[in-house]
Amino acid sequence: MMKTIRKAVFPVAGLGTRFLPATKALPKEMLPVVDRPLIQHVVDEARGAGIEHFIFVTGRNKAVIEDHFDRQFELEVTLKERGKRGDLRSLSQDLPGPGTTSFTRQQLPLGLGHAVWCARELVGNEPFALLLPDVLVKHNPGCLAQMIAATRNLDGRANIIAVEETPLSRIHMYGVVGVGKPKGKAFSITGMVEKPAREAAPSNLTITGRYILQPDIFDVLEKQETGAGGEIQLTDAMIQLSKSQPFYGLKFDGRAYDCGSKIGFLAANIAYALDRDDIAPALLDEINTLLAKR
Ligand code: UTP
Repeated sequence: MMKTIRKAVFPVAGLGTRFLPATKALPKEMLPVVDRPLIQHVVDEARGAGIEHFIFVTGRNKAVIEDHFDRQFELEVTLKERGKRGDLRSLSQDLPGPGTTSFTRQQLPLGLGHAVWCARELVGNEPFALLLPDVLVKHNPGCLAQMIAATRNLDGRANIIAVEETPLSRIHMYGVVGVGKPKGKAFSITGMVEKPAREAAPSNLTITGRYILQPDIFDVLEKQETGAGGEIQLTDAMIQLSKSQPFYGLKFDGRAYDCGSKIGFLAANIAYALDRDDIAPALLDEINTLLAKR
């Protein structure tokens, strides 16, 4: 059986160029979906899955993420003075406990694979979760909780990747997996290809921003050459590791929103807002008014 997954890595050192100029001074991971920053949604998912230690790989201009996961005394005093107990309570509930966060810096944005490698000392020698904060999966239980549940049927050296169905017309934008035998709710991955041409794609299942990886990935990343886009690619390292360790895919329940793209981000905002009783009726009115004018 696999060891308990206690630690999660959140790579937040990217430049977020698709969201310029919003991301010139503000980290992409702090953009809000309704009233919670992307990174808070993803940390919530990890906490819901039982993660105990939260490791952030940050970069220049990202200090605000560290501040976000700290207490804000002036704000707390003001809220207390104004009798806003509910706000105070939810601020403290959002906060991971003292000593459960770690921050390290990726000094240059050399790619996702390199960002993950930067977390090696903090992760140590145990399997860990990796969550990309620009992907939100709307479901309860969360995507990572579903993945951890799936590990119970797998052997101790397994790696698991969350996958979702993607239309073939967009398959060339993603990492795609080949589908082998089922194993519980998961299936064994027969191969991985990064951004294949439609004809070369082994399936319509794409890699979706949630991973459970063995620590051996760090040794592979250490020697990994730069790949597509001049970046050190995580998928290249996973392809290498899959030669010596099993990889499984999990088609999770729920819808993933790619909040690194404008449409995904806007769609997530609408979907999450429509789930909120305090916002949904007024938002629907606004949407209907806008649609009527088109
Ligand atoms: P993305 O490629 O979606 O993010 O990486 P990006 O590079 O910031 O965005 P664009 O493409 O320029 O708009 C997915 C996640 O990996 C992190 C990002 O912060 C994001 O959360 N990342 C990416 C790093 O931490 N370091 C990198 O070198 C690259």
